[in-house]
Amino acid sequence: MSEALASSNTDINFALIRKDFAILHQQVNGHPLVYLDNAATTQKPQQVIDAVARYYQLDNSNVHRGAHALSDRATADFENARRKVQQFINAPKAEQIIWTKGTTDSINLVAQTYARSQLKAGDEVLVSAMEHHSNIVPWQMVCEQTGASLRVIPVLETGELDMAAFASLLNEKTQLISVGHVSNALGSINPIKEIVRQAHAVGAKVVVDGAQAAPHLTIDVQELDCDFYAFSGHKMFAPTGIGVLYGKEALLETMPPYQGGGEMIEVVSFEKTTYNQLPYKFEAGTPNIAGAIGMGAAIDYLNQYDRPQLLAYEDALLHKAEALADAFDGIRRVGTAAHKTGVMSFLMDGTHPHDVGTLLDQQGIAVRTGHHCAMPIMEQFKIPGTIRASFSFYNNEEDIARLFEALNKAKMFLC
Ligand code: ALA
Repeated sequence: MSEALASSNTDINFALIRKDFAILHQQVNGHPLVYLDNAATTQKPQQVIDAVARYYQLDNSNVHRGAHALSDRATADFENARRKVQQFINAPKAEQIIWTKGTTDSINLVAQTYARSQLKAGDEVLVSAMEHHSNIVPWQMVCEQTGASLRVIPVLETGELDMAAFASLLNEKTQLISVGHVSNALGSINPIKEIVRQAHAVGAKVVVDGAQAAPHLTIDVQELDCDFYAFSGHKMFAPTGIGVLYGKEALLETMPPYQGGGEMIEVVSFEKTTYNQLPYKFEAGTPNIAGAIGMGAAIDYLNQYDRPQLLAYEDALLHKAEALADAFDGIRRVGTAAHKTGVMSFLMDGTHPHDVGTLLDQQGIAVRTGHHCAMPIMEQFKIPGTIRASFSFYNNEEDIARLFEALNKAKMFLC
């Protein structure tokens, strides 16, 4: 192990961690798998898979409805998972944790309830140029519906937000700012606390897309003081189809419901329907019970470790990969912010990212190539997309060595 990696951790046995992820120990296209597509989705440890299987094997039942033991057990586990999420992000109350399908669903919920009911013609919503489409399109839709305008915070060549431009965009018309905590395309960590401070000074609310932050950073919504925080289970070792919206209680209380149906009501009559209390007002229909229980198990899994140590290890891997990329003739990194995590995006001279991705796959290396659902920032950099290697704590130096061996072969083949 290199010095940087050795000093990045003290007592975590990273080799042992890899054993919890059976999927990593397979051959792909005749080579041992190297999984470097963690920003798209993370792998699930056996403990999460077991928790989901146990629910279906022993407790499968609907929540909050049945007057029987299975339903009581399912409800207890489901609500316990909500409390684990509350502690994971240091939310004041469990009622402020709303289960959703994922980050996209959480952002659409805020757009179609809070924003749609608050915005009017002339108001302004800000997003940044580096956002994922799921943090652009919902705001375009609600701006069309309300007559509000969408304005864009520029991004510097390094992949950092232009904070001076941000300050000059803020005015009394600014109602809402929605930004990613960590960019999925560039890895930049945005200064959320400062954005919130400046936004609140003009009376605007802040939504944070935390999809890429939750697997790496320790999230404290009270310290950030953000108004809403959205993230997905599947990017933090939990199942797909489960996610979270956190909101400040006073805002959630005043927001109209998102979808109508069972669970979200108090009393239904044809004359007048009244709505349930938080968080159920926003949870129409049978929820993803197994997903929520899996999310709780993923949080338990992470909580076994000192998370800053996990992050230091991941960042040491990222820095090692970046140093090798910088020494590699013909590779240009895209996204060189001073504060980054998880993601190395790059281009290889004279090649298309998709061709490189295909050649890497043939050598057992999984990366993502393309625009990463962030077309506007690719457009700004005048590139069709990038090759993206994204890291987790179950990756190791061998994975990085394999990546660069494979890149060498791809270069020989394509250039
Ligand atoms: N948003 C995911 C990614 O960046 C899918 O790959």
